[in-house]
Amino acid sequence: MNKVEITGTGSYVPPKIVDNNDLSLIVDTSDEWITSRTGIKERRISQGEDTSDMATKAAIEAIKDAKISVEDIELIVLATVTPDSFMPSTACIVQKNIKAVNATCFDVSAACSGFAYAMDIAVQFIRAGRFKNVLVIGADTFSKILDWKDRSTCILFGDGASAAFLQSGEEDQILSTYTGSDGSKGDSLTCPAVAVNNPYVDGVTGTIKSVVGMEGREIFKFGVKVLEKSVKALLQQADCTLEEIKYIIPHQANYRIIECAAKKLGIGMDRFYINLDSYGNTSAASIGIALDEVRKKNLVKKGDKILIVGFGGGLTYGGFILKVNL
Ligand code: UT7
Repeated sequence: MNKVEITGTGSYVPPKIVDNNDLSLIVDTSDEWITSRTGIKERRISQGEDTSDMATKAAIEAIKDAKISVEDIELIVLATVTPDSFMPSTACIVQKNIKAVNATCFDVSAACSGFAYAMDIAVQFIRAGRFKNVLVIGADTFSKILDWKDRSTCILFGDGASAAFLQSGEEDQILSTYTGSDGSKGDSLTCPAVAVNNPYVDGVTGTIKSVVGMEGREIFKFGVKVLEKSVKALLQQADCTLEEIKYIIPHQANYRIIECAAKKLGIGMDRFYINLDSYGNTSAASIGIALDEVRKKNLVKKGDKILIVGFGGGLTYGGFILKVNL
C-alpha cells in the first residue's frame, strides 16, 4: 500500500467582511444574540466570486506550497454543495483555470463534511496506487443559496475555499480516516435543486426556490453526537489517545456545539482550533481553512498529530488524523 503525505495547503476567503451589526440592519437580530448562540462575530461574503473562483485561488496556494508543477496533478476532487453549475463540474472549471491538463476531475457532495470525504477519496486512490498527486478542494459560496430574510440561517454561514495537496511519499501521514451518513435525517438541512418538469408530467409543477432550510436544534444535537463518535472512531483506528492529539480541528459551525462535544469527551476547549468567530460556517471549506491556518501560523511542528472532523447536510460526518511532517 502506498503512503500518503500532505505536501501543501491553501485557502481563500473573499475580502468583504460582514459583521453581526451589519446583519442586524437586514434581519431582526443582534450582535449579542449571534455571539452568545454561535460564537460567530463576522464572516466573509462574496461580492460576485463564484465557488470555482475561490477554489482556484485556494488551489494555486496549495500547489505553490507543495512546489509541484500543475502538469503533475493527476486527480482533482472538489467538495461543494454550491457548484457554479450542474455541468461542467466545479472541479473541471478549476482544472481549466489552473491548466492541470493531465487531471481527472470530479465534485463530491457532502455539505460541511465534504473536505473530509474528499480527503478520504484522495487517500484511498493514492494508497491503491491509482494516482500519486492529488489536489483536494473544499469550496462553498453559501451566500448564493441563503434566504437573506431568514435570520435563523443567514447569520451562520460565510463563503470560502480551502485546498490540500496529497502525494504518494515516504511516510504515511494519514493515521486514520472515517466517514458516515444518515440519509434518514436529510430533511433537517436542505437546499432543493430543480423540479421534474417536462411535457409528460401530469399537473402543474410549482417552482422550487434553491435556498437553505434548516431545523437548527436537530442539527445541533446531531453535530454534538457525531463529533464525539467520529473523534472516538478515529482515535481507535489510529491506535492513539486524545492526549497524543495536539489539536482537534472541528467543523466550524457553532462554538456551543464544540463546547458540548468537549464536555462529552472530557477535554477543555483549548484542545480545539477554532476560527468560526472570523469566518462563520464556510461549509466544505471550513476544516481546510482551519488546517491551513494552523500550519501557516506555525502552531504545529513535525510529529504533531491533528484530528480533523466535519459534519453537515446529508446528513454526513467524517474526518481524519494527520501526523504533521512539514
Ligand atoms: O454545518 C451545519 C450547519 N448548521 C448548524 O450548525 C446549525 C446548528 N444549530 C444551531 O447552531 C442553533 O440551533 C442555532 C444557532 C441555529 C439556533 O440557536 P438555538 O439556541 O437553537 O435557538 P432556537 O432556534 O431555539 O431559537 C430561539 C429563539 C427563537 O425565538 P422564540 O421562538 O424563542 O421567540 C428564534 O426565533 O431565537 C430566535 N432566533 C433569533 N433571534 C435573533 C433565531 N435566530 C435568531 C437570530 N437573531 N439570528
